[in-house]
Amino acid sequence: MSGEPAVASFTDTHPDPESFLDDALAGLGATPKTLPSKYFYDDRGSELFQRICEVPEYYVTRAETALLGNIAGQAAEMIGDGASIIEYGTGSSEKIAILLAALNRPAAFVAVDISAGVLRGVAERVARDFPDLAVHAVCADFTRPFKLPKMSSPGRRVVFFPGSSLGNFDHEQSVDFLANAACIVGPGGGMLIGIDLKKDEAVLNAAYDDAQGVTAAFNLNLLQRLNRECGADFDLDAFRHRAFYNADAGRIEMHLVSLHAQVVALGGQSISFAEGETIHTENSYKYSVPEFQDLARRAGCEPLGAWTDAEGLFSLHYLSVACDR
Ligand code: AVI
Repeated sequence: MSGEPAVASFTDTHPDPESFLDDALAGLGATPKTLPSKYFYDDRGSELFQRICEVPEYYVTRAETALLGNIAGQAAEMIGDGASIIEYGTGSSEKIAILLAALNRPAAFVAVDISAGVLRGVAERVARDFPDLAVHAVCADFTRPFKLPKMSSPGRRVVFFPGSSLGNFDHEQSVDFLANAACIVGPGGGMLIGIDLKKDEAVLNAAYDDAQGVTAAFNLNLLQRLNRECGADFDLDAFRHRAFYNADAGRIEMHLVSLHAQVVALGGQSISFAEGETIHTENSYKYSVPEFQDLARRAGCEPLGAWTDAEGLFSLHYLSVACDR
C-alpha cells in the first residue's frame, strides 16, 4: 500500500466512439470544405496544443492563469463554503489547483474529460495535492447530457470551464452548452468560465500563427491523422496553415489551403481541391464582456462577476443559475 489518497470514483460512460472517417467524408464533401476541430486532439495534437500554450504569441493560457490567481479569492467568496467543483475538459491541473486552493473547505472535485488517460492523471494529481477532497473522474462527452457521481455535500455545485474552450462552439452551441451545464449544477449552482476577449487583430492573428509554426503543425496534424488512421494520401507539403480574424463574425478562423489543384484519396473516394481552396478546420470566437453576458442570459444564467486583466486580454465570468428555474 502506498498510502496515497485515492480517487473516490472513476465512471466511464463509454462515450460513443466517433467516426473520424464518416465525419471527414461529410466535411470534405461539403462546400465549403470543413473538418471538425474536435479531431485535433489525438496524442500528437494534444501534445502540440500544450506547446501552443507556451509559445510567446499565444497569450491565452498565461493571461488566464495569472487572472485566475488574482481573482480566485473573490470567486471563492461567490462560490461559498463546501462547494463541489466540476471541471469540463480537464487538460492540466494547474488552473484547478489555483481555484481549489482559494476555496473554503471544498467538498468534492469532479474531473470530466473524453480522454480516460488525461482524466486519470489529473484526478490522481488533485487527489494527492488535496487529500481532504473527494475526487471523482467521469469519462464522458461533456457536450452531451451525462450523470454526475453521487456526492453527499450540501454545498453549491459549480462548473469550471477554463481556457476559452467555449469559443470553439458557435453561438447557438454555446447557449445549449451553458443550458446543459445549468442542469448539471441545478438551481442555485454556479459556473466559472474563461473567455478570450476581442482585441487588436494583429495580436489575435499572431496568436494563431506563431513564428515557430507550432499552430501550423497542430492544424496540419488533422491531415496527418487522416493519412495515419483512415489511409488517406494527403501530401502535407501541398497544404498551408492559414489563420485570420474574421471581424464580422467575431472569430479567428483556421483553414488549410490547397497550394495547387489536386485530388486526394480518402475512404474509397476521390476528393478534388482547386488551387487556393481551403478546408475550414476551426473557429475560435472572441467576446466582449457584455456580449458574453448576453449569451449567458440566453442560457438562463445570471452573470454575477466578470473580471479582466489590466491588458484586456482575457476574462473570467461567474454565472449563477436561478433557484426557481
Ligand atoms: C482549445 N481552444 C480554446 C484553442 C483556441 O484558442 O481556440 C484551440 C487552439 N487552436 C489554435 N490554437 C489554439
